[in-house]
Amino acid sequence: MNWRLSDILVLSLALVVGGNAAIAQGHQSLVVARADPARSSYVWSLPKGFPKPRVFKKNRLSEAKVELGRHLFYDLRMSINQTVACASCHQPARAFSDGRATAIGATGEVHPRNSMSLTNVVYNATFNWANPILTKLHVQALVPIFGEFPVELGWSDHEMEILDRFRHDALYQKLFAAAYPGATDPFNVARVAKAIAAFESTLISGNSPFDQATFQGNREAMSEAARRGQELFFSERMECFHCHGGFNFSQSVNHSGTTLPQAEFHNNGLYNIGGKGDYPLDNRGLWEFTQQSTDMGRFRAPTLRNIELTAPYMHDGSIATLEEVIEHYARGGRLIREGPLAGDGALNPFKSELMPARFSLTDQEKQDVIEFLKSLTDWQFLCDPRFSDPSGNFAQHARCYQ
Ligand code: HEC
Ligand code: HEC
Repeated sequence: MNWRLSDILVLSLALVVGGNAAIAQGHQSLVVARADPARSSYVWSLPKGFPKPRVFKKNRLSEAKVELGRHLFYDLRMSINQTVACASCHQPARAFSDGRATAIGATGEVHPRNSMSLTNVVYNATFNWANPILTKLHVQALVPIFGEFPVELGWSDHEMEILDRFRHDALYQKLFAAAYPGATDPFNVARVAKAIAAFESTLISGNSPFDQATFQGNREAMSEAARRGQELFFSERMECFHCHGGFNFSQSVNHSGTTLPQAEFHNNGLYNIGGKGDYPLDNRGLWEFTQQSTDMGRFRAPTLRNIELTAPYMHDGSIATLEEVIEHYARGGRLIREGPLAGDGALNPFKSELMPARFSLTDQEKQDVIEFLKSLTDWQFLCDPRFSDPSGNFAQHARCYQ
């Protein structure tokens, strides 16, 4: 496999960082009393119908670690120039996405891809749009922290400077000590990444009208239109469920009890440059890791939960609305008539066999499918105070304050 340079960088850092942390943890277990809250196992309160998340052995959850992670996630001091936090690109008001087509890092560099929603990330088999080797949240966090192509938070060569901001802050001294009891100097990048990953793991959404109707016996929670849309979504005519199926509306899941994690990637016919199946140079999906032609344009099918709030859509934000998403699938792929990206995505030779053949919907049916997708919006999740910014810089959705 040929890996992207930035991924090799991040992975080798992960090895170094993971190694140190393992040594530090071994030391900790000698000094920490068993009843310590930071060591006790985290108690999940899961929505009905949801499996138990897997346990990352190198990052056991505790309330204290989650709380530290929550503070760090929203803290602008996490970026080199103190302008951007994880939450800048993963805003709570937008189900932890950012509303841009493609992301912009702390120093203004443009990311080739769209910021992903963090809804139910703990269940993903792999992370990022098309990265088969990122399978742990605390390793994923090192990508925005250290990434240089493009710079997101900009920690490379500034690690000590950034850690010192927290080391000299009275609140963080308490938070780190509680999250990592017994460590003589708890401030290191592995622990930052692990605390943030712990917080992200708790971002679980499973109380949308769809869930209330499906798992909680309250059929009326969904409108008539949404129920009609549900039939269509799960029909052989539209075929959406083949790739966006299961409790998380994504086939690519991994959780406690999964024997074979499904790390799936599909080409859904967005491009077909020059009729040869090509995707734009900076966004070729799985191909960037394998260089196999059949992997051209293959990306992970993301969850559709809270999709109403995460426009624009697709790995490069190239589809603006849900209506256009449905038109894209109805055509069996996207036609770009002119310009450097011209080509008919419906004829892409690497398009997934699971993609629907052309289908047509009446206006009413199209609206019904959109109503169904909107029934996946979970206001309890979006307004949950446990997921909010402790310092109040990043607001939750306006609806949460009404
Ligand atoms: C500059 C904007 C930006 C910042 C800052 C940022 N992210 Fe992201 N995030 C993205 C983009 C873009 C992607 C998709 C990356 C890709 O596919 O290559 C992403 C993907 C992710 C994913 C993968 C989600 C999934 O479903 O696979 C996670 C998790 C994540 N980010 C967490 C974080 C954390 C934690 C931080 C802070 C340490 C952070 N991000 C900072 C833009 C950002
Ligand atoms: C062959 C598998 C497959 C099928 C079938 C499929 N999708 Fe997708 N879907 C994907 C993949 C892969 C992506 C991401 C593609 C990309 O960004 O290049 C995606 C992206 C999306 C997105 C955007 C998600 C986001 O966060 O930006 C929506 C919305 C969506 N699909 C809805 C649907 C609907 C509705 C149907 C049924 C008409 C459907 N999909 C059928 C694989 C599939």
